[in-house]
Amino acid sequence: MPWLDWLSLFVRWFHVIAGVAWIGASFYFIWLDNSLETPPDWKKKQGIKGDLWAVHGGGFYEVAKYAYGPQTMPKTLHWFKWEAYSTWLSGIALLVIVYYFAAAAYLIDPSVMAMSEAEAIVRGIALIAGGAIIYETACRTKLANYPKLFAVALVALLVIVSYLATHWFSGRGAYIHVGALIGTIMVANVWLNIMPAQRKMVDAVANQQPVDPSWGAGAKLRSVHNNYLTLPILFIMISNHYPMTYQHPQNWLVLVALMAVAAWIRHFFNLRHLGQIKPSILISGAVGMLLIALWISWPRSAPSSTQVEAPVTSQTTVTDSASPQPVSELDKHVMALVETHCQGCHASAPTDEVFRVAPLGVKFDNWEQITRQAPQLINRTTVTRDMPFLNKTGMTDEERAIIARWAAQQ
Ligand code: HEC
Repeated sequence: MPWLDWLSLFVRWFHVIAGVAWIGASFYFIWLDNSLETPPDWKKKQGIKGDLWAVHGGGFYEVAKYAYGPQTMPKTLHWFKWEAYSTWLSGIALLVIVYYFAAAAYLIDPSVMAMSEAEAIVRGIALIAGGAIIYETACRTKLANYPKLFAVALVALLVIVSYLATHWFSGRGAYIHVGALIGTIMVANVWLNIMPAQRKMVDAVANQQPVDPSWGAGAKLRSVHNNYLTLPILFIMISNHYPMTYQHPQNWLVLVALMAVAAWIRHFFNLRHLGQIKPSILISGAVGMLLIALWISWPRSAPSSTQVEAPVTSQTTVTDSASPQPVSELDKHVMALVETHCQGCHASAPTDEVFRVAPLGVKFDNWEQITRQAPQLINRTTVTRDMPFLNKTGMTDEERAIIARWAAQQ
């Protein structure tokens, strides 16, 4: 469906732009808050509690933060809320376009759990809505008074959701649902808490009433959560490109481990903004990342290469150099496997009902294309094993073993 691809392209593009604006603004304000200095007395008299100077884009900027609020309401007040809302709206639209319109291709993996498209979509929505409601409810209980305990509960929630999602959906579909839940929690924090608090403050200033500092303080816990969730959600946004993560047999643990390390690294930057440089955090974070990489790339026991022994000829003369042909029996076997398992999608004119254009431009129309792309072909079928896509054509371990044997000769 080409129009769906175009829709997906524009919405994805917009989503990335909005996300950059949201997270960029959020990073900027965290930096700003942590970099404020004590202002001179004449500013203090105006109610300014911190100020700073910056130079950017060929100009000097002077920023001041008020302890409560300005004496009179400025004519224009910038809010920074649409960055968050538009990121979430476009993200949900993208989820629907990519994963719900083509649920059979992207969301359902029969080897994980076979289900109808409708069921998969209902489970997906339930996971996101359920997780967000649990979080929102917890924020309104006494748990909110114990930030450390709350953090543990939040981690537990994300672990459970990761586990459920990866046991229901395809690897990439699962990861994106965890991302959608995190994004929903983050935007709900802005919408249901940070914005109402700000609205109260603005109303008070406009009506010349005193500003109650507790309004802003209530939003603190949620801002801290949003802050620590930024790096994990950014990883999930790009995770689709890295099947070694979401295709791993323990993909839920891979996701949890990567999110944990990302939040830990965020901690380093938070402390650094406060003037505490703790290289041990950065180093342990880097070591953690390295250990995860080692763990997921550690060679797993290859599928036992049972019978299907094809005789291998040592002869390598290619008769027609203009259009190379498979030579050995093993070559022919591989060619036949590609015809059966890959050409439905990866051809000049795919016959697959979902993929009308060769995905990522990868075509295996003839032996020349197969040998030219042999490294990718081998990698995707025997190492990451995410091809055939969601194993739609049902490639067996024995067949993968044949490709592995062919790989050894390349
Ligand atoms: C049902 C359709 C389908 C079938 C069948 C299929 N693929 Fe794919 N293939 C895809 C899709 C979709 C992508 C893009 C995945 C993504 O978005 O990252 C892809 C991507 C690839 C890539 C990645 C290219 C790159 O640059 O990252 C390779 C290599 C590949 N497939 C090889 C194969 C091989 C080999 C087979 C047969 C064993 C096969 N595919 C069967 C749909 C399919």
